[in-house]
Amino acid sequence: MIRSITVFFSLAFLCLSAVAQKAIVAGPMPGHVELRTAKIWLQFRDNIKEAAIHYRSKAASKLLTKKIQLEGGEFNTAEVTITGLEPSTDYIYYITAGAGKNYLDSGAFSTQTIWQFRNPPPDFSFLAGSCTYFNEMQYDRPGAPYGQDSTIFNMMAKEKSAFMLWLGDNWYTRYPDFHSEWGLNYRPSRDRQMPVLQKFLKSMSHYGIWDDHDYGPNDADKSYVLKEASRRTFMKFWANPGYGFNGQGIYTMFNYNDADFFLLDDRWWRSSDRMKDSVNGQPNPEKTMFGKDQVDWLKNALLFSKANNFTKFRVIVTGSQVLNQLTRFDSFNHFPVEYEELMRFIEDNKINGVVFITGDRHHSEVLRLDRKNAYTLYDVTVSPLTSRVAKTQGAEVNNPDRVGPEMAEQNYGRFSVSGEANERRLTVEFIGLKGDVLFTWSVKASELMNE
Ligand SMILES: [Fe+2]
Repeated sequence: MIRSITVFFSLAFLCLSAVAQKAIVAGPMPGHVELRTAKIWLQFRDNIKEAAIHYRSKAASKLLTKKIQLEGGEFNTAEVTITGLEPSTDYIYYITAGAGKNYLDSGAFSTQTIWQFRNPPPDFSFLAGSCTYFNEMQYDRPGAPYGQDSTIFNMMAKEKSAFMLWLGDNWYTRYPDFHSEWGLNYRPSRDRQMPVLQKFLKSMSHYGIWDDHDYGPNDADKSYVLKEASRRTFMKFWANPGYGFNGQGIYTMFNYNDADFFLLDDRWWRSSDRMKDSVNGQPNPEKTMFGKDQVDWLKNALLFSKANNFTKFRVIVTGSQVLNQLTRFDSFNHFPVEYEELMRFIEDNKINGVVFITGDRHHSEVLRLDRKNAYTLYDVTVSPLTSRVAKTQGAEVNNPDRVGPEMAEQNYGRFSVSGEANERRLTVEFIGLKGDVLFTWSVKASELMNE
């Protein structure tokens, strides 16, 4: 007995010292990588004060070094932007800490291709998913665990995709989390350190938007008193191209080959879900989901994108579903004035190539919206990664707008954009927990055109 106790404590000590030696607690995770620059996100143990990234192109022998600015404090995240890179180039890097330059970890990334005016658009793929819940029993609701099998991230780590779109509810703040800025930081800090995530974080670029649970409490809206703190947390844990403007919201966009991605914020300006959709029989203009500033930005960004003939797809990414006409849960059509305004804008201005990608619902599906005077719009919902599954109820069960099945199981979306310049196609495969393809849907850019 004594011997086994001794063995136990020695093993525990070995494990503890292995953990104690880990200077990088999460990441490295590439964020926004474009033609000439790359953002790498990391989280260090709180006593690490000094770190550096050393990098070179695979073909070069000269190693360049850049100091990493650490946030410091308990959560000690860092984002380093490497500049002066060459397009279409594979880079390798490694991270060191302290003056002694102790090796910590290594990784690789590739810059985007400069193909415009030179070559046909290159094929590429990306992943998307929403609703990630890791259990922490002492703070979770009693009863059956809400978080499910997280090995889905092992499969995702093996994908040869350029990037992952985290569609919101990327972590779930709990009751003990969302009453303080510390709590808002604690939740992603704990989740990001999950061993099952590490390979995946390193394997490709990551872009995030938020939905209610990673913004604040369930169904949180613009009244959430800690929203400014929540935005600081968001900025601390993602390495996106930008985070709204003038300190407001987290919306941004980026381009990848012949697709533009508009990452929207459906919380910062969101009216309460309980605000009436209509008043005196008229749609309520006070009820907004994206808010005036963001809608104005999106309209201009879509027009700017339209002017670029190289861009075939305009992917609008947001947490709440956009085209679901039947749900009583979160969907853009419960904000009728703003919904009509955006739909009319897309139609009147003949914005081609629009596809919505959404999350939140705890099931996946593709919804269509046939329009009288324009091409059919699609809303591709991908959910959940690890949180509990939810089947549709009531009128939604047999939603006539659904293309293909309702997938009420853990899954992620494997998207690809491929084909000859005039035959570009966006395809999504919904991948289940065992790697099985649950459903494949695809649309040609030429089907998303007005003329
Ligand atoms: Fe949500």
